[in-house]
Amino acid sequence: MAGTGWEIARDSSTTSFNAAVCEGFHAPIFRLVGRRPKVYTVFPMNLSRQHLLARFYDPVAAAGLREHELAQRMFDAVGPTPRRILHLGCGRGWLTRRFAERFPDCEVIGLDADPDIIAAAGELGGRVHWVLGRAEAPPVDGPFDAIVASLLFHHIPRAAKRDAFAYAAKQLAPGGRLLLADFARPHGLGMRLAFLPVQLADGFEDTADNLDGSYLRLMAEAGLHHLREDGHRRTVLGSVALYQASA
Ligand SMILES: C[S@@+](CC[C@H](N)C(=O)[O-])C[C@H]1O[C@@H](n2cnc3c(N)ncnc32)[C@H](O)[C@@H]1O
Repeated sequence: MAGTGWEIARDSSTTSFNAAVCEGFHAPIFRLVGRRPKVYTVFPMNLSRQHLLARFYDPVAAAGLREHELAQRMFDAVGPTPRRILHLGCGRGWLTRRFAERFPDCEVIGLDADPDIIAAAGELGGRVHWVLGRAEAPPVDGPFDAIVASLLFHHIPRAAKRDAFAYAAKQLAPGGRLLLADFARPHGLGMRLAFLPVQLADGFEDTADNLDGSYLRLMAEAGLHHLREDGHRRTVLGSVALYQASA
């Protein structure tokens, strides 16, 4: 991969991946916008739905889920001079680009399993190497000083979580950090109820590990060390925490 410049790496095993991700949130917006074509007329004609979502939906979701605040915690945890960072489930890449800006001498790789989404991330630009692939079997090798993920892991089955954690244990550089922001065990009835829409959208099975706070146990079983769960935050969709581990 080194020396190939910023490009989208295609992994044929993922091309059939259906953009189920964030579908629970995005699909109604797609449908709404799709029924009201006049909405497009206020924007440049070549503006795609991906761009619409990137411009308007992602920032709103990031604010509602406090992703920007979590991003700042991640920057602090990464350390001052990382050389390589891998962002799993990067979506359209707002956080990936933030890492690239924050650490200008660092190689930043954004990986997502959805071909349309990673293509949209590439179009939005940034000093990032965009890669199509799955978090449980990324087609890139370490060592990485940080492997980060934000609001990805509640989308994927437990077996895939285990594979992704095993990958992190193998590909992190000595002292490197896995930084994972995701929904956590709800603190209080209000946060439990707020999490229900996420479960309805993403499935009760894949979100069970969020409810019972199993992430640290799964990380330990994958061979990761120095496990830590940084304080819960209240969000519109339930409690969110930053999990940390190192190889
Ligand atoms: C809720 S979005 C998170 C967006 C991200 N936090 C951001 O900064 O924009 C989840 C993303 O994970 C991706 N995704 C879902 N399953 C994946 C997997 N197994 N491997 C890699 N990416 C995946 C989806 O395509 C989607 O872009």
